[in-house]
Amino acid sequence: MSQPDERALRTVAKMSDLEADGPLVVDIDGTAIGIIRLGGKVYAFRNSCPHQGGPVAEGALVGNVECKVTEGGARRESVSTSDINIACPWHGIEYDVRTGLCRGDKRMKLKSYEVVVQQGLVKLRV
Ligand code: FES
Repeated sequence: MSQPDERALRTVAKMSDLEADGPLVVDIDGTAIGIIRLGGKVYAFRNSCPHQGGPVAEGALVGNVECKVTEGGARRESVSTSDINIACPWHGIEYDVRTGLCRGDKRMKLKSYEVVVQQGLVKLRV
């Protein structure tokens, strides 16, 4: 049986503070955390890129580029409208907003936080 998570939920914003598809960066005990509202869900990441510490949560949200090879060998690229990445503004490395995993190197992952939305308040387990 798993143990209950003892970390406290901290209220960090109101849902109304979050722009659709835009980040809000908050300071929690000296740690900058980016909060992103995307497609009706809210995600939170430490605002420090695993590559070289760039402010990743302030990057652009971009559709994931998907490439398929047809039976004839032709490459077809498309940009997803539902599979969204955040691109770090320093060097452009992209991370899956939903999981925090780096698209190009699965060894890199954003530090994410559990988000709970209750009565219009955004709370993080920190
Ligand atoms: S510091 Fe984020 S891509 Fe380099």
